[in-house]
Amino acid sequence: MKTHECVQSVLISAQEIQQRIAELAQQISKDYRDKGLLVVGVLKGGWMYLADLVRQLSIDVEVDFVSVSSYGRGTKSSGKVNLLRDLTTDCGGRNVLIVEDIIDSGITLSHLKDLFLKRYANTVEITALLSKPSRRKIDIPVKYVGFEIPDEFVVGYGMDYAENLRGLQDVCVLKREVYE
Ligand code: PRP
Repeated sequence: MKTHECVQSVLISAQEIQQRIAELAQQISKDYRDKGLLVVGVLKGGWMYLADLVRQLSIDVEVDFVSVSSYGRGTKSSGKVNLLRDLTTDCGGRNVLIVEDIIDSGITLSHLKDLFLKRYANTVEITALLSKPSRRKIDIPVKYVGFEIPDEFVVGYGMDYAENLRGLQDVCVLKREVYE
């Protein structure tokens, strides 16, 4: 199926994304100046946001990644998060910023935050480009949110449908008939 056949509409344009990331990067740079920061990207969806965010920061940061398995969201959600790839850095005593493409139920980010705090991270904050507040099951604070969005199936800018469409420059809404 061709990209344009799957996409219903553009929800957030590439330009809007970059403008908002510039604002977030300015705030994050200010908050962590002279404090040291370990930026942790959550694969796979978070890589594109991390790459753009880090390039707009005015402070130097260390970068690492974790990969977590999808736990089957929706009616079959087990609430379990499996760590497929761990940090290669010791986060003990560090200021950690977790970078996600989207927060939905909050289960993934809650699990990761608890994990890093158990490993004695000094602070753990979260940035998510997108947030779906109506889907939240765990009330977890997200310090730096790009955009609050309605409960639509979104793709592009790192986010996929069945591992496709991650490379779209805009955040787009997937047509219902594609996944229903
Ligand atoms: C997405 C997203 C988060 C998680 C958020 O990942 O990147 O990791 O879901 O959902 P939650 O708030 O309900 O926990 P996904 O499972 O789509 O995997 P991917 O990033 O590898 O595409």
